[in-house]
Amino acid sequence: LPQLIIAVLFGYILGSTPFGLLLTKMAGMGDVRKIGSGNIGATNVLRTGNKKLAALTLLGDLLKGTLSVIIARECAIVFSPDHVLLISCLAGAGAFLGHIFPFWLKFRGGKGVATYLGVLLALSPPAFLTFGFIWLSSAYFSRYSSLSALIASALMPFVLFGFGRIGLAELFAILTVVLWIKHKENIKRLLDGTEGKIGGKKEVPS
Ligand code: G3P
Repeated sequence: LPQLIIAVLFGYILGSTPFGLLLTKMAGMGDVRKIGSGNIGATNVLRTGNKKLAALTLLGDLLKGTLSVIIARECAIVFSPDHVLLISCLAGAGAFLGHIFPFWLKFRGGKGVATYLGVLLALSPPAFLTFGFIWLSSAYFSRYSSLSALIASALMPFVLFGFGRIGLAELFAILTVVLWIKHKENIKRLLDGTEGKIGGKKEVPS
């Protein structure tokens, strides 16, 4: 049991690093939460017009999910070999929750898409590629980042089920529900046609 709690906490701490906020602040751009959707993720960083920072935000928020799972998995192989998958999943879930509810931002973090994807990469590379393919196809046609994440994440439990990963399908069904709840403002904007598109208006926080 202590290993399970340590795994969640470890993932949570790593996951709570807000790369979008840190990178834009380091670049002297002010607070990214003051522009666009107010979110700290790569999509909102892209609204500053700085593609490099947006790509780095995506990479950082993604890799913290991947690393949480990989490190937890390596430790579990040594210290708790009977529960390797469970411990890996808990660290991944911890990282996802850490990104969304980081303690240093008074629990007001991001929407979880990049970290969800990073956890998926570590747990099922084929599902990761499928997510990427669905997201990119949807973003290409719709130009909506949020809609693409909503569609890809909604399909993930079924994709994982199709790959025979039943336990992972259950885990990602839960993560998808949290991700959708965090997108409720986006869903409202998509429904009334006011959601910002990729490549839309640029804003730099002052
Ligand atoms: O990754 C978050 C994305 O789905 C929506 O971001 O900034 O448009 O709320 P944003």
